[in-house]
Amino acid sequence: MKKMKVAVTGAAGQIGYSLVFRIASGEMLGPDVCVDLSLIEIPQALGAARGVVMELQDGAFPLLGEICITDNSEEGFKGADWALLVGSVPRKAGMERGDLLKINGGIFVEQGRALDKVAGKDCKIVVVGNPCNTNAFIAKSVCKRIPEDNFFAMTLLDQNRAAAQLALKAGVGVGEVSRLAVWGNHSATQYPDFYHARINGRPAVEVLDEQWLQTSFIETVQKRGAAIIETRGKSSAASAANAVIGTVKNLSFPTPDEEFFSVAVSSDGSYGIESGLMFSFPVHFDGKRTRIVQGLDLNAFAEEKIRRTTEELIAEKRIVQEIFG
Ligand code: NAD
Ligand code: LMR
Repeated sequence: MKKMKVAVTGAAGQIGYSLVFRIASGEMLGPDVCVDLSLIEIPQALGAARGVVMELQDGAFPLLGEICITDNSEEGFKGADWALLVGSVPRKAGMERGDLLKINGGIFVEQGRALDKVAGKDCKIVVVGNPCNTNAFIAKSVCKRIPEDNFFAMTLLDQNRAAAQLALKAGVGVGEVSRLAVWGNHSATQYPDFYHARINGRPAVEVLDEQWLQTSFIETVQKRGAAIIETRGKSSAASAANAVIGTVKNLSFPTPDEEFFSVAVSSDGSYGIESGLMFSFPVHFDGKRTRIVQGLDLNAFAEEKIRRTTEELIAEKRIVQEIFG
C-alpha cells in the first residue's frame, strides 16, 4: 500500500484537534494511502500533543502508520509529502488578520528554512496560519529547493462560506452551488466571485438579487471569520479543519472539467496580478498540475474588488520585506 507522510504544525491546537483524526481516518488522502503523522508543536504544548497521540491510538485507525511528536521543525518535516502549516497565534476580537504578521511571520521563516532542508522534494505545503497568504509568501521565499508551485494558502473556507450563503438565500442545498471562486487575500478585502457562480446550473445573478450579491453577500463572507470570533469567543476551528481536508483533496484528485476551486497560489501574472504574490484564484487540478483558470471575464465591479485585495497583499509583502529582509 502507498505510504505518505503528513506533517501538521500546531497539532495540539483547536484546528489541529479537529484535523488530525480526519487525516488518520483516511478521509483526506483516500482509502489506499497509509499515513505517517508528524505532529509539530512548541515545547509548552508537547504534553497536550502527547494526549492527542493517545487518542489517535485509541481511534484504532487502520490506515494510520507511525506517529511522531516533536518541537523540532527539521525532525518533523523530514521526508514529508504534505506539510500543513497551522501552528501560529489566532487573532482576537477587534484585530484584522494582517495584525498577526509581526507576531506569526517569523514562524514561517523558520519553517520555510526547515522545509528547504528536509522535506520531500515533491512536498506540497498548505499554509493555514494567518495571515495565510503572506505567511505562505514568506515560507516559499526562503524555501528555494521546493518549487513555488507547491506552496498554497487556504481560501477554501471562504469559498465554503460563500457557497453556504448563496444556498441559504436561494433555498437550495449547498451542493447545488458551483463555479464559485474567491479571489485575493484571506482577509476582509477578499472577492467572492458570484458573477461566475452557478446555482442549480444557472448563473447566480439570475437566481438572486444582484444588489444583495454586491453588498450583504460579499460583506458577510469577508467578515465571517470576525463574526465567528465575536459569537463563539474563539476563531473558527472545525470548519477550518474541514477546509484543510477539502483543500488537500482538491490538490490530490482531478477537478471535474468545468469546475474549479479556490486556493491561493503563487501568481504567474494571470489577470494582471503581480507575479509571485500568493493570490487566491479559481484553480483547476488535472491530477498532476494545478493551473489558474484562464479567460474568465471580469467586469468593472470585479476589477475594482480585485484591485483592492491586490493592493493589500502588496502592502503585506512590503511589511514582510521590511521585517524579514
Ligand atoms: P490555536 O491557538 O488553538 O492553536 C495553534 C497551535 O499552534 C497551538 O497549539 C500552538 O502551541 C501552536 N504553535 C504556535 N507556534 C508554533 C510553532 N512555531 N510551531 C508549531 N506549533 C506552533 O489556534 P487555531 O485556532 O488552531 O488557529 C491556528 C491558526 O490558523 C491561526 O493563525 C488562525 O488565525 C488560523 N486560521 C486560518 C484559517 C484560514 O481559513 N486560513 C481559518 C481558521 C484559523
Ligand atoms: C477565519 O477565517 O475564520 C480564520 O482566518 C480566523 C480569523 O481570524 O478570522
